[in-house]
Amino acid sequence: MSMHENNIILSGSRSIIGHYLIPLLQKQGYHLQLYSRQNKENIFQKSKTYIHLAPIWSLIDILPSLEGTGIQRIIAFSSTSIFTKKNSSMKSEQLLVKNLEEGEAFLRAYAKKNNIPFTLFRPTLIYGDKKNPGNAPAMLLKIIKTCGLIPLPRKTGKGLRSPVFAKDLALAVYQCLNEEKTFFKSYNLSGGENLPYREMLEGFFHWTGKKPRFIFIPKFVIYSLLYILARTKRFQGVNKEMVHRMQQDMIFDSTEARKDFSYAPQEFRLSF
Ligand SMILES: NC(=O)c1ccc[n+]([C@@H]2O[C@H](COP(=O)([O-])OP(=O)(O)OC[C@H]3O[C@@H](n4cnc5c(N)ncnc54)[C@H](OP(=O)(O)O)[C@@H]3O)[C@@H](O)[C@H]2O)c1
Repeated sequence: MSMHENNIILSGSRSIIGHYLIPLLQKQGYHLQLYSRQNKENIFQKSKTYIHLAPIWSLIDILPSLEGTGIQRIIAFSSTSIFTKKNSSMKSEQLLVKNLEEGEAFLRAYAKKNNIPFTLFRPTLIYGDKKNPGNAPAMLLKIIKTCGLIPLPRKTGKGLRSPVFAKDLALAVYQCLNEEKTFFKSYNLSGGENLPYREMLEGFFHWTGKKPRFIFIPKFVIYSLLYILARTKRFQGVNKEMVHRMQQDMIFDSTEARKDFSYAPQEFRLSF
């Protein structure tokens, strides 16, 4: 491998995927240059590959700034929220979907114009390990640790989920680096197991060493609770759409990924 072939520019290094991907790539002999908002004026060496783990819409600023580095390959992450939050009534979630759509559209157009093969991944909810749980589990773990239980509206929590282990996503990036079958393609990446939302919560209880405990209360009480919690710093971002989604299935077919690069994510229950 020439030095240029060996070089990778990577953004989102502090993400949960980066936590597993960075040591994996270094072990395989790649030389990583980390892009961060703090060092965006840095001059990057010539690199064959750009891996984008930061939010997809930040590509719109980052990619043009990397012109001159000779990028010939891009792997980027979006999210299945582009589908699951599409009909949300929350302004913040509508904005998220718009940003995801714009980021994806930019990537496709940029890659086409410059003839750079891209691969786009849309994961479901990402989890890490007990020490580094990742953003989405961290929020649930905070509630479990603070309250010792999770309040749920009656008759909810049956919607199917397919959480995906960040280490499997890191492996997916590595497997696709030079895999031509994945060029100019997008993949929805589920985890290795579909399970009801409530069982997923039980899994996170196990991480804290606490016995799963739920309290079932009327929906309007939950909504009032969430309204109050969302105004605190600790629970910023919680909202009533989360309650609606507890009944919805959010699973995605990853057959194409299994075929193209032997994607084989682990079962959620293996993580606790
Ligand atoms: N968490 C999930 O469950 C989930 C689910 C589906 C998809 N995803 C996607 O998977 C990727 C990783 O997610 P994550 O939750 O682990 O990480 P994250 O918190 O979204 O991202 C953290 C990293 O991204 C960089 N970053 C954040 N905003 C940025 C911006 N506007 N411009 C440039 N860099 C920015 C940060 O770098 P600096 O602070 O150093 O600049 C940091 O290294 C993201 O693309 C996310 O959209 C996440």
